[in-house]
Amino acid sequence: MDAIYDSSSLKLKKEFLDAEDFLPLNGTDYIELYVGNAKQAAHFYKTAFGFQSLAYAGLETGMKDRVSYVLKQDKIRMVLTSPLGPGGEINEHLDKHGDGVKNVALWVDDASKSWKETTNRGAESGFEPKTIEDENGKVVLSAIKTYGDTEHIFVERGAYDGIFLPGYKVWESDYNPEGAGLKFIDHMVGNVGWGEMNKWVEFYAKVMGFAQLISFDDKDISTDYTALMSKVMTNGNGRIKFPINEPAEGKKKSQIEEYLDFYHGSGVQHIAVATDNILDTVTKLKSNGVEFLYVPTSYYDDLLDRVGPIDEDLEALKKLGILIDKDEDGYLLQLFTKPVGDRPTLFFEIIQRKGAKSFGKGNFKALFEAIEREQESRGTL
Ligand code: FE2
Repeated sequence: MDAIYDSSSLKLKKEFLDAEDFLPLNGTDYIELYVGNAKQAAHFYKTAFGFQSLAYAGLETGMKDRVSYVLKQDKIRMVLTSPLGPGGEINEHLDKHGDGVKNVALWVDDASKSWKETTNRGAESGFEPKTIEDENGKVVLSAIKTYGDTEHIFVERGAYDGIFLPGYKVWESDYNPEGAGLKFIDHMVGNVGWGEMNKWVEFYAKVMGFAQLISFDDKDISTDYTALMSKVMTNGNGRIKFPINEPAEGKKKSQIEEYLDFYHGSGVQHIAVATDNILDTVTKLKSNGVEFLYVPTSYYDDLLDRVGPIDEDLEALKKLGILIDKDEDGYLLQLFTKPVGDRPTLFFEIIQRKGAKSFGKGNFKALFEAIEREQESRGTL
């Protein structure tokens, strides 16, 4: 599939400038993870990542089969859901994937139209548009399936005024740890199986009207051992960015393949969250016990030659292991956590953009070598 950007000028090709956005997205509405123990996971995300309690649904709110805790930090909303009994869709998901992202919910003005436009273009329905309501108004939800068992829920909440969604109550907690400066979701990356990247790139292009921003192949992203290919898909207004990774043949097992083995299929690999002060954010997260990938200090030896002048103190960045990369628009600072659950699957990225619009390609090699050291210790390289 042709990229929508003219490769020499990085300007949008004319046909895409003129195209009508049939799926206008206002942003990420929430991310829902299915987890083994939502109550304890909520404590972890509050304590370690600085999320705040927002809303709750469970037995006390009339929900019989599951419990959901909703956490918030600035514009980020995360829902943690666990089943209350055996069997059913959530247990199946947990059995197969472990804790992981089930729903990437997208905020739209019209959930019925979003469902119609996408299913007409070939999306498989997750569920048909439905209206749910309570005393605070009504919300229309619909869903389509994407890679693996992951789904996109379209959320139309213009006529709703409650804390989260109908059926949820305010979650008041006496435990309110300080935030870590996480602002919004910058991008969210999916790992898909061998030979499937282009299928899902095409899905986002044809079914959801996204455009391809950048691609990397195994020549860009490979070390002695591991390789991957990646394409970045973005929606019309650029608020939603979904890079899609596929493993590539290397001397040893690719980190993407390790993910696929442990997740037992395609799924969300990492959630990148933006901060406007990465030094402060990472200092807080580290002191809260969040574990990050480690890059050797030699990474910093020729860093300023590569990226040019930066506003931050290099020693402070080095101390925290923060990575820096640049593109033609500026630079970015980023750091990746170790997997947040038991399986080597989902992790988080902390990112601060200083003009750069890219994703840290220049760091991939250093980063992958760091991941390989972790894989080595797990015996999965
Ligand atoms: Fe990323």
